[in-house]
Amino acid sequence: MRLLPALRALSATMPIVLLTGYGTVDLAVRAVKIGADDVLTKPVPMSAILERVRSLLGPGAALGTRDSGTHKLPRAAAIAKGGVLDPAERLLGESPAMRALHRQLRALHDADCPVLVLGETGTGKGVVARVLHDLGPRAPRPFVDVNCAVLSRELFESELFGHARGAFTGAHARKTGLFESAEGGTLFLDEIGDVDPMVQPKLLKAIEDRRFRRVGEVEDRTVDVRLLAATHHDLLEATRTRTFRGDLFYRISTISIDVPPLREREMDVVLLARAFLSTASERYRRPGLRFHPSAELALLAHRWPGNVRELRNVVDRAALLTEGEVVGVDAIRLDRAQTSDAAASTMSPAAMAASTPTSTLQDVERSHVETVLVDEGWDVGRAARRLGIARSTLYVKIKTFRLMSPRARAAASNDRLR
Ligand SMILES: Nc1ncnc2c1ncn2[C@@H]1O[C@H](COP(=O)(O)OP(=O)(O)O)[C@@H](O)[C@H]1O
Ligand SMILES: [Mg+2]
Repeated sequence: MRLLPALRALSATMPIVLLTGYGTVDLAVRAVKIGADDVLTKPVPMSAILERVRSLLGPGAALGTRDSGTHKLPRAAAIAKGGVLDPAERLLGESPAMRALHRQLRALHDADCPVLVLGETGTGKGVVARVLHDLGPRAPRPFVDVNCAVLSRELFESELFGHARGAFTGAHARKTGLFESAEGGTLFLDEIGDVDPMVQPKLLKAIEDRRFRRVGEVEDRTVDVRLLAATHHDLLEATRTRTFRGDLFYRISTISIDVPPLREREMDVVLLARAFLSTASERYRRPGLRFHPSAELALLAHRWPGNVRELRNVVDRAALLTEGEVVGVDAIRLDRAQTSDAAASTMSPAAMAASTPTSTLQDVERSHVETVLVDEGWDVGRAARRLGIARSTLYVKIKTFRLMSPRARAAASNDRLR
């Protein structure tokens, strides 16, 4: 049971089956919640094990062909067992901010109200919306996801509400709108802040009265959908500048969820990177791919303006650029302007001395980190601030570089003497 979450963190898609001599329903439900696909109770005939493994690896479930983002298998198993999907399964992260988000999502598990998801681009708003749907009472019904930012005003109307045949030039056949496709389920309006102000009243009516009209028709139709929306805009500010209607804003923002940017949850960077590397290693059929510590340090030092999406792309590219199994720092292609270049801006004499052409970047970094730590009397908080990194990052660096405070060194030599 303790190994399970760690295995799940390695790969979101790898099927995991638990075998136990002490099977209880409670154990099975807990195991499925934290990532098992199935729990078998001994004695199990070998044929039954084989059958289970085959079905888990069967059509559509073969390793490497499944999209890790959707993570279907454990969900199906969870539902079959009457268990509940845990948001932490798909929204990876162990930082306090992420844990708080998991708690918030768990608390909303049987809610059926509109939810507005806020956060920068690439933070995981889409994943949050999907989790909200999958946790909720409408989970077995459709989840329809629309990116409002790419729809012009005309297109928005006909896409969302549908149109009659001949309603406009090019409308050769009648068309069902996305509101209707989502009947009974969830309609997720992504980038709702980009909806043209001219169509906002129609959208409000559809949400408020659950009625809408296909373009070119005269009869209203009714729908029953739950509305989820997301945006990276400051909608309240947009209501002030009149680019977003206040009544629509208040209608969709009963509950809002903030998804924190990646730079505010630095301790998730390596965890996410490893999970994405493991997915890439399955997808590109490159077993055993792993990071060199210097690569992880480089990831930690970056500012991540594009958040998790950017991290995922960087890791994917690194996997493709790597020839052996170890992903080195040279495979990590970052936007250099976004890397906190503490070493360059506040370089101490010691670090300068270390930066002769023969020393590697890592040597320079190690030396600089040590200089600052010594300078600050090994006060990790102050040293981290001066280095412009999080304390957690500094701890990782201390460990990776095997730096030792005088006290730790004394303790170690005492141990040796004893
Ligand atoms: N916490 C997370 N755990 C695992 N994958 C994540 C997480 N957050 C984001 N992702 C992945 O990062 C990418 C961007 O997320 P997305 O939900 O599309 O961001 P947004 O909608 O905020 O722009 C997607 O591939 C998504 O699966
Ligand atoms: Mg999105």
